Amino acid sequence: MVSSFLFVALACVFISMDQVQLHSLINAGRSAFSSITNPNPNSLSPTPNSTNSFCTCRPTANDSENFTEKSELSPPEFRLLIGILTLPGNYFRRYLLRLVYGTQSTGRAQIDIKFVFCNITNEDDRVIVALEIMRHDDIIILNCTENMNDGKTYTYFSSLPEILPEPYDYAMKADDDIYFRLDRLAKSLEPLPRFDMYYGFVIPCESMDPFFQYMSGMGFILSWDLVEWVRKSSIARNHKDGPEDMVVGDWLREGNKARNRFNNKPAMYDYPIPVPIDTCSHEFIPDTIAVHRLKDNDKWVRTLRYFNATDGLKPSKLYHLP
Ligand SMILES: *[C@@H]1O[C@H](CO)[C@@H](O)[C@H](O)[C@H]1NC(C)=O
Ligand SMILES: *[C@@H]1O[C@H](CO)[C@@H](O)[C@H](O)[C@H]1NC(C)=O
Ligand SMILES: *[C@@H]1O[C@H](CO)[C@@H](O)[C@H](O)[C@H]1NC(C)=O
Ligand SMILES: *[C@@H]1O[C@H](CO)[C@@H](O)[C@H](O)[C@H]1NC(C)=O
Ligand SMILES: *[C@@H]1O[C@H](CO)[C@@H](O)[C@H](O)[C@H]1NC(C)=O
Ligand SMILES: *[C@@H]1O[C@H](CO)[C@@H](O)[C@H](O)[C@H]1NC(C)=O
Repeated sequence: MVSSFLFVALACVFISMDQVQLHSLINAGRSAFSSITNPNPNSLSPTPNSTNSFCTCRPTANDSENFTEKSELSPPEFRLLIGILTLPGNYFRRYLLRLVYGTQSTGRAQIDIKFVFCNITNEDDRVIVALEIMRHDDIIILNCTENMNDGKTYTYFSSLPEILPEPYDYAMKADDDIYFRLDRLAKSLEPLPRFDMYYGFVIPCESMDPFFQYMSGMGFILSWDLVEWVRKSSIARNHKDGPEDMVVGDWLREGNKARNRFNNKPAMYDYPIPVPIDTCSHEFIPDTIAVHRLKDNDKWVRTLRYFNATDGLKPSKLYHLP
């Protein structure tokens, strides 16, 4: 598995070697404004001139012809940043997530996906991650020590306004074991307020009241004004530690913020297990926006199969899949 990943990664790097811009390597946050899912070619980073059918690092979806023409006339409906908090060493998960999101379309929304780390401390990770940035430009490295419930989510939100060249409408914090169906996600956000908005899967499991408690860390969204507020607020600054999703709920309650809230049940849920441990999990449903707790390949594959993720595969003489 790992060696085939490395082979693909190295092949990609080799193929695009002569186009690589060396100066933009490390400073991911600043220049990172490309997207693996954005169908608008204007905002993609320059693709290698040499087209090649071997390297599947960039989506090749061809169903966006009409959208592209439209989007040149009108700006995207809204812009969403999905920050997937993960660890530098989780190469294979990133490889999978790039495939899963790089093959989806997002309708009239612009959805940019970035992987978010704290300081990289391992020498091997430094090299591989630098190559990933050169190829994909989808990594943000924050100024923090890697942790889960010790302020990484605070550092993520509070850093965004400074490190990004332009604001978004929304920023999401997501886990690396959740699968989003981007077009459904975009559709659900389209009619919602762009300000003072907090969106996700409300905890506890059985609750349907987004004004009580908080949104699960599996994947929740803050509107950009709330991201800016987190950056400035002493309420957030003085209360960084604790379960990362719960503290976000605490900030918003103490700050009397997020008067617009949207609880996305039952469209978001934990992967169905035979004997549910709680009501956060239920069977797959067609109107799904996200499935969480995809801890291993088997769960990813079952989920991708249920949602027909490979339906777009074009027939060719070059391959055959049963
Ligand atoms: C890509 O091709 C265009 C036109 O052929 C050329 O002007 C440009 O310099 C090339 N870019 C790179 C990075 O090679
Ligand atoms: C992409 O779409 C165009 C127009 O819809 C079509 O002519 C072309 O053959 C398609 N290309 C591929 C690779 O499917
Ligand atoms: C673009 O739109 C036209 C008319 O709305 C339709 O006939 C055509 O099939 C569409 N092309 C693609 C590639 O979706
Ligand atoms: C990074 O964090 C350290 C420790 O919190 C701090 O001393 C330093 O000034 C920060 N650097 C930047 C560039 O923000
Ligand atoms: C992260 O690394 C930078 C230099 O790469 C350093 O200046 C900073 O203090 C580190 N931050 C933490 C929190 O360790
Ligand atoms: C997947 O495709 C099958 C066969 O076309 C269809 O019956 C099913 O509804 C699709 N599933 C979803 C979630 O769209």
